[in-house]
Amino acid sequence: MIRENFSISLEDNIFFDIADREGVISGNELGEKYNISRIAVFKHIKKIKGFGINIISTKKGYKYIADKNLSKLEVQYMLKNEKVDLQVFYDIVDSTNNSAKKIDTKNDFVFIAPYQTKGRGRLEREFVATEGGVYMTLGYSPQNLNISDSLKLVLLTGLAVCEELKNLNLDAKIKWPNDVYISGKKVCGILLESVLSLEKVERIYIGIGINVLNSIPQHLLDIVTTLNLEGIEVSRAQLIVNVLKRLTVMLQEYEKSKFNFFLDRYLKLSCTIGNVVKANLDGKEVHALAVGLSEEGYLNLSIDGEIKQMIVGDIFNLDKK
Ligand code: BTN
Repeated sequence: MIRENFSISLEDNIFFDIADREGVISGNELGEKYNISRIAVFKHIKKIKGFGINIISTKKGYKYIADKNLSKLEVQYMLKNEKVDLQVFYDIVDSTNNSAKKIDTKNDFVFIAPYQTKGRGRLEREFVATEGGVYMTLGYSPQNLNISDSLKLVLLTGLAVCEELKNLNLDAKIKWPNDVYISGKKVCGILLESVLSLEKVERIYIGIGINVLNSIPQHLLDIVTTLNLEGIEVSRAQLIVNVLKRLTVMLQEYEKSKFNFFLDRYLKLSCTIGNVVKANLDGKEVHALAVGLSEEGYLNLSIDGEIKQMIVGDIFNLDKK
């Protein structure tokens, strides 16, 4: 990844020092380091806390403990720690995909929103994105991707999120192409948009929405879940960074080895392939056995012994294997 220069304020530095310290760090030490009084240190820390960052003050000094709040500074700190070079943009916006597409840089970045006022889903649908979830768009400039890679990048992103949720001990599965499900309910949606030139993908915008602590409208509770409802407490900043770390590594690997490298991992976590599904094919509702993926990432469906490909659309599982 390419590192973009971005200015670091005194607050940022003080927060990074506190977060770097395993134990507590005293106001004295911070004051000496930055040549400011302990009162000034206290004022800066008050400001940092105002960003929603959980800093505990004890007699001996200050300590950072990640909690469920989300802040730009924590994400920046954790990305730096994990050596993931992404510039971070953070704002309340209509859709992080829309905002990401307006950013004029060739470098890689992530746009994060605490909530979105008009989140967008696949197939021009609305994506409800209230406070408490993870809403982000990775802006990525691939070196070596063709237009035919687009769908497989969507599959790859679903895999990255699903594997991170498995790391939280959740029984997460991928519904083709890329929705992530827990206990038969959707927990994550992905919207990929790209800028293409003749045969090449110039830029991709990978929008990821994960339900964490956000409240789900009553009428969706049968089909949508959150990590909180699944009994998982997680720092949203840490989840964002873990997903981005995994995904950026996978994207680089994809450019070298293509999707076959990930196929077994995807199939292992798929709740579609091997199952009987209901799908809308050429305007007709069909029941079919999902037998695998085509070279392009399309879903291969077996209908009365004949293989048909599903390129886009929704499928519903009819059995619960
Ligand atoms: C879907 O389920 O159909 C896809 C949902 C994608 C939602 C994410 S949230 C971050 C990014 N910004 C958006 O407006 N959409 C994506």
